[in-house]
Amino acid sequence: MRRVRGIIGEGKKACVQTFGCQQNEADSERLGGMLSEMGFEIIYDVKDADLILVNTCAVREHAELKALSITGQFKHLKDAKPSLLIGICGCMVTQEHRAGTIKHSYPYVDFLFGTSMLYKFPEILWDTLTKDKRQILWEDTGEGNIAEGLPVKREGGVKAWLSIMYGCNNFCTYCVVPYVRGRERSRRREDILAEARGLIAEGVQEITLLGQNVNSYGNDLGTEGDFADLLDDICRIDGDFRLRFMTSHPKDASRKLIDVMAANDKIEKHFHLPLQSGDDRVLKAMNRRYTRESYLSLVGYMREKMPEIAITTDIIVGFPGETEEEFENTLDMLRRVRFDNIYSFIYSKRRGTPAEKMSDQIPDWVKKDRFARLLKVQDEISIAKNGELVGKTVPVLVEGRSKTDPARLTGRTAGNKLVHFTGDDALIGTRIDLHITQAETHSLFGEREK
Ligand code: 5AD
Ligand code: SF4
Repeated sequence: MRRVRGIIGEGKKACVQTFGCQQNEADSERLGGMLSEMGFEIIYDVKDADLILVNTCAVREHAELKALSITGQFKHLKDAKPSLLIGICGCMVTQEHRAGTIKHSYPYVDFLFGTSMLYKFPEILWDTLTKDKRQILWEDTGEGNIAEGLPVKREGGVKAWLSIMYGCNNFCTYCVVPYVRGRERSRRREDILAEARGLIAEGVQEITLLGQNVNSYGNDLGTEGDFADLLDDICRIDGDFRLRFMTSHPKDASRKLIDVMAANDKIEKHFHLPLQSGDDRVLKAMNRRYTRESYLSLVGYMREKMPEIAITTDIIVGFPGETEEEFENTLDMLRRVRFDNIYSFIYSKRRGTPAEKMSDQIPDWVKKDRFARLLKVQDEISIAKNGELVGKTVPVLVEGRSKTDPARLTGRTAGNKLVHFTGDDALIGTRIDLHITQAETHSLFGEREK
């Protein structure tokens, strides 16, 4: 890193395009930090860039096709400006077959590296420039590899991601993540606490702790305590900040974690708890290792301890072998739990996963039909749940101007619901009380208290 600081990028502009989850966004903030240290100016329009880096996702085919298509569009930029550097990194190219596709079918891509090589980015860029040769660094996901102390270029000062662990050990049968992100590796408690202290000192209002399964934080560290202890420790840091975390696996979310959440005002009362399916046979085939009953009992405990809690979930429709009756069990769970919001996905076959080889794949039209029915059931629940807030006054963290209506500001409630309201730019980054006046399926409208 040191030898390339401020040299490679002087007078040049770089643009990082990110696909996928919050972990990828956090990774891109580190890539942006490294680019800044190398002297690049970070910009958001690829047309003016001297370097474009695409940070890809592999969770569903759709995300991969989008990344490939956008990379394809960069060819004409390179034709117009041959000195333009194009790089691809992240989960998609950590798969051997996709790295091969880039290598052979996208000859104008100058460098490629997988998720375990993120910290080597400056070196890879240096080699690309000095060796006059494409750097295609595909290799299996490194294990036990955490690089601390990388620079970070964060988006905005209100909210920050903080990765507490990397990788996943769960091997849900549909999921590619354990193959592209490697085994679970927890960051050391003191490193996390130091980063949290730094963020709070900088004035960050809200920190979201990230991990594929935060509930197994510390399992690989031995003696340092679990996720609930870590949350408790972060809450003890002085300052007026709030904490969120994601994602939790229902098989590992403990009563202790819920108790810590209930006892700490600094932890926002929102729980994202991916259900995936509401049918016990499907859950077993997915290797999820919990049942409808144990899930319902966890939700019951959460609501007993925190009646105001917002619960959201992920649902996959059309997992191989899912029958109509099994799908209806998922609808039944939506009606029983009454989630505040769901993130729903059509099952996507992923290379190398056990579900890819299951014989009874569901036809596309059935998957699409179930997806539409799922949304319909949830939309009614979402609007009813949002409606419960109308007439109430709730605290909201103001994030910025609304993307759809710049005349308005937007903020988020404790339950992570989007609220639009009219107000002054000076409110951005502050926490204010809003009187909720109107509810829609995916957002709320509010007014400042007079
Ligand atoms: N197909 C569809 N959705 C998937 N997810 C993970 N793998 C797949 C797949 N192969 C969904 C899960 C997970 C979310 C991040 O993405 O619901 O919780
Ligand atoms: Fe994928 Fe399951 Fe790990 Fe989540 S817990 S990343 S769904 S394997």
